[in-house]
Amino acid sequence: MDHFNYKDNELYAEDIKVTDLAKQYGTPLYVYSKATLVRHLRAFEEALAAKDHLVCYAVKANSSLALLSVIAQSGCGFDVVSKGELMRVIKAGGSPEKVIYSGVGKREDEIEFALSQKIKCLNIESESEMYKVEQVAERMGLVAPVALRVNPNVDAKTHPSISTGLKKNKFGIAFEDASRLYRYIAQSKHLNASGIDCHIGSQMTSGAPIIEATDKLISLYKELLEIGIKIDHIDIGGGLGVTYNDETPPSPYEYLAAVIARLKDFDVAIYCEPGRAMVANAGILLTDVLYLKSNTERNFCIVDAAMGDLIRPALYNSWMNIIPALKRDKSDALEGSDANGNRLYDVVGPICESDDFLGKDRHLNVREGDILAVRGAGAYGSTMSSNYNSRPLCAEVLVDGSKAFVIRERQKEEDMWRDERMLENSTSHDFS
Ligand code: LLP
Repeated sequence: MDHFNYKDNELYAEDIKVTDLAKQYGTPLYVYSKATLVRHLRAFEEALAAKDHLVCYAVKANSSLALLSVIAQSGCGFDVVSKGELMRVIKAGGSPEKVIYSGVGKREDEIEFALSQKIKCLNIESESEMYKVEQVAERMGLVAPVALRVNPNVDAKTHPSISTGLKKNKFGIAFEDASRLYRYIAQSKHLNASGIDCHIGSQMTSGAPIIEATDKLISLYKELLEIGIKIDHIDIGGGLGVTYNDETPPSPYEYLAAVIARLKDFDVAIYCEPGRAMVANAGILLTDVLYLKSNTERNFCIVDAAMGDLIRPALYNSWMNIIPALKRDKSDALEGSDANGNRLYDVVGPICESDDFLGKDRHLNVREGDILAVRGAGAYGSTMSSNYNSRPLCAEVLVDGSKAFVIRERQKEEDMWRDERMLENSTSHDFS
């Protein structure tokens, strides 16, 4: 459930007509609903209320400072994967004490920055990284709280590009190596084993893989207890899917109830790292229909949003729902339309790539100048955008009831090359 609904055939973001937002702020435009975000935050918090827990929102899904500040104010923690993400969380008012730091390739300066900020836990992904964290902690004269991100070799049964828990994936530490490394940590003066972590994939539409992974983590937890190593949290990662089309993922309650049931008798906190389930349906992307054109094979609906603004369809062939801001009556149909007034369109962007599309084979009744909305665009939309073809990044607004806040100004063309230099005014070095 979200707060993007039709009233009298007009699409609203909470109490505002999205066509009014497009008129006021231009397109392409990301629009977020605060009420939807808050609803999702509460769902995770309430689902875990029965047990000591920390919900760590995965910042990569959407790192807007305004969204992060709403999330921080709700008491949630954060999962970050770079110094930049950690700095964003701090800037947005998040407490480093509620931050966990994941990622397979943390640089030394990033580890040092994270430790200097006293974050909750570093999720370590290789033996070499473990020694690196130990070295940095020793140099800084402190004890680094760590978890090992284990690779449980569980199939998340999702798109191969977003599956992370199999042996063939680069992520995590081989399950069979974990207890040896925990023994090392236990005798280190500069490492403290705080948790066990995993993240097996994204957009999971069944809870079963998470349960399978949790069971593996529990077996490791028990094995560690037997050798006198007591960790304080089990982190099941993120990965809960959302409905883009006809998927029926479990609710946060359903999926976390099963995890709680398994962990209820253990004196251990549950951490999770949801990204998509928190923000995907809290955002839409508005785009203007520039041109309609047809040939003997296809109809093209050319819009002003591109793969540079929303790359998921082009990159993963993801299906995202595209709906009109104004639902036209079927009596108001173009030539060649079906009985419902729709034509079959490929909705494509202005970028010079054949893969620049937002959706293929969509039934739409549209005209040039109409506004379309891509639903489910709140996660991995804005954060994965780029300036390809020198197109400025989109403006973004957050809607709260009947108020809209510009949370990101549309990028100016000049800002795209602000850090570039022509030869005559660049710094140069002679390497001869
Ligand atoms: N924790 C870790 C360590 C992760 O790598 C991820 C996502 C998450 C948590 C959050 O997962 P979520 O709850 O959002 O599924 N760009 C892709 C998704 C990539 C996910 C990467 N890792 C997409 O647009 O589908």
